Parts: sequence; C-alpha cells; structure tokens
Amino acid sequence: MSLSVLAIESSCDETAAAVVTAEGEVLSNVVASQIATHAPYGGVVPELASRAHLQAIVPVVRQAIGEFEAKVPGGRLDALAVTNGPGLVGALLVGVQTAKALAMAWKLPVVGVNHLDGHLLAAHLRLKGASEQPPFPFVALLVSGGHTALYRVDGPLDRTLIGQTRDDAAGEAFDKAAKLLALGYPGGPVIDRLAAKGDGRAHDFPMPMLHRKDLDFSFSGLKTAVARHVAKHGVPEWEGALDMAAPPPALADLAASFQRAIVEVLAKKAIRACVTQEVPHLVLGGGVAANRGLRARVSELAEKAGVKVYLPPLAACTDNAAMIAYAGAQRFLAEGAQPFDVFSRDPGRIRGRFRQDGTLIPRR
Ligand code: KG4
Ligand code: ZN
Repeated sequence: MSLSVLAIESSCDETAAAVVTAEGEVLSNVVASQIATHAPYGGVVPELASRAHLQAIVPVVRQAIGEFEAKVPGGRLDALAVTNGPGLVGALLVGVQTAKALAMAWKLPVVGVNHLDGHLLAAHLRLKGASEQPPFPFVALLVSGGHTALYRVDGPLDRTLIGQTRDDAAGEAFDKAAKLLALGYPGGPVIDRLAAKGDGRAHDFPMPMLHRKDLDFSFSGLKTAVARHVAKHGVPEWEGALDMAAPPPALADLAASFQRAIVEVLAKKAIRACVTQEVPHLVLGGGVAANRGLRARVSELAEKAGVKVYLPPLAACTDNAAMIAYAGAQRFLAEGAQPFDVFSRDPGRIRGRFRQDGTLIPRR
C-alpha cells in the first residue's frame, strides 16, 4: 500500500485539507474559500483570514478525513503535511498548529511544505482532466496572487529560480485592474470571462519587458496604464448586475486588452525559458494558470517551439491542499520529518537581476 499523506493548507484565503498518495492519487480534497469575507475590502485582510481559518479548519479537516475513509475503507494515514510558508503568518499558524496537534495525538510524523513547491508539483496530481505527469527536468511558470516566477525544476525538491517579477505579481495585476474597473475581488476570474467577449487589440497597453532577453517580469506599469485610461475615459458603465454573457463592449475590450498584454509577456518568456534551458517541458501553476487566455496562448506558442505543455486542471491551479500533500509526501520520502517553523517570505526567492542566459546576478 502506498504512502498516504493528509495535508493542510492555510497560507492565504483558502482553508484546505486533502489526502493524497506519494504517486499523486487524490483520495480526498476539500477547499473552503474565504472570498466572500474579503470581497468587500477588495483584497485579503490578514486578521480576518486568520479568524476565518480558525473557524473552518476543524470542519474542513474532518470532511477530508471522512471522504478518505469513505473512499478507502480501513485506510490509514502515514504522515501529515502542512504549508509553513510563504504566506500570512497568522493564517499559516492556524494550519501548522492544527497539523502539529493532530500529529501528536495520532503519533504520526508531520512535514512542513513550501507553498511554492506545492504549486510547482500540482501538475503531478492524478486528477480528472489532468495531463500525464511531467518528467524532470521541466520549466515551470508559477503565476499567482503573490508570485510570478520561472523555475527550472530538476526534481521534486530541486528548483532553481531563473526569472521573476520585479514588482507586482501577475495575479496582483489582475486584481488591481479589476478594482480600477469596479469588478470586485478576486479580479482574475472576472477579467478572464470578460476578455473572452472582447477585442484584445482595442487598446494598446504596454507589454513590459517583452523584448528584453532576460526572464524578468514587471507589471506595475501596466496597472498604471489602466489607471490612466480610467482617469481619462472613466469606467464603462452598466446597469444592474453585470451580464457576463453580454457585457458592455467597452468593458470587455478593456479586459481583453489588459489580459492580452499580461498573457503575451508571460507566454513568450515561459517559452524563452524552455529554449534557453534546453528543456522542452513546460508546467503552469498558480491561480493565474487558470486563465483561459494564458492557457491557450502558451499552448499555441509551445507547439510552434516544440515544447510540451502540462496544464493542471483549474482546481489544482488555485490554492489547494492536494498539491501540498503530494509535495509533502515527496519530502517525507526523501528526508523524513524534521522540526519546522512558519515563514512569511520564500527563502529561495532571491531578489536580483538576471543575465541573458537566465542566471542570476545577486544584488548586494
Ligand atoms: O494561487 P492562488 O489561488 O493564491 C495565491 O497563492 O496567490 O492565486 C490567486 C490569484 C488571484 O490574484 C486571482 O485573481 C488569480 O489568481 N486568478 C486568475 C484566474 N483565477 C484566479 N487570474 C486570471 N485568470 C483566472 N482565471
Ligand atoms: Zn498559491
């Protein structure tokens, strides 16, 4: 019988628990979203997130265990895993304390998992609609609310940062643009749906860093361009609830043009990374990897470049505990359980400039 790991994820605004085997088979997968709690504020409020995690954590873990027992009668857990960073410290502590308490009560080992390793390995989960598991090494484009980076991944625990954003994350840019257009939080999914109805060439928004040879990104200028456009022309208006099937054309065009600018840079640089690394396998991960425009454009460019793309199903792109369980199982198999604390920023997230070949020039 394969190793089964129960994982908890509480780094941001999703409380999640899942049981997954070391081979990536998902035996249960529960996600409780706090979107409704944070929506009125246009972003995640850390204090509210911690409280909401505290309310949700026990029911969510119970449900994940219940679904596991229903699927595998008499099944046993071999280890626990929990996201211990990066993320909001107060939110992380809720998951970590719960995992450590359960480990003590059940006399099971508990492993701390880096949230980013979870996203980078999400394509390995054997979920409905998933492609085959990507072979190592692969290049990964990790695009979420907090991170936008390119990695070379040589093994489950072996990743090298080869490019990253110098300012805003891609998801942050989606969320800020949506806020400017009065579309609510989170912005990515709404802009994604609107963009499908609009003309991406209607507005000439900047595509920052597109023609630079390095693998860096920058999205704050794009956000400023949207802010300037709104200051000059106002926000397109609509009456009543926004009809997603037939949105105001001016609004759809703005969303489509904004999305095209982001997608073009992300897709081109991801393919460039595969070429410079001479690695013909590309994995997408993080909430923004759910974006339909990005998935389509990456697939199109990859085919031309002879690169194979691995797209996790949408539910594996956004935050979940299944990816943490899988990453935790790999870590446990490689090095067993070790003591751990929480951390807010990724220790491997070195800030710096990149050479043309993708290597880093560290900043002093
Ligand atoms: O990975 P994730 O769930 O949480 C973080 O670790 O940040 O990513 C959340 C981000 C949000 O900024 C959200 O707007 C964005 O992912 N997002 C999307 C889409 N779905 C979620 N962005 C663009 N298109 C989408 N379909
Ligand atoms: Zn995430």
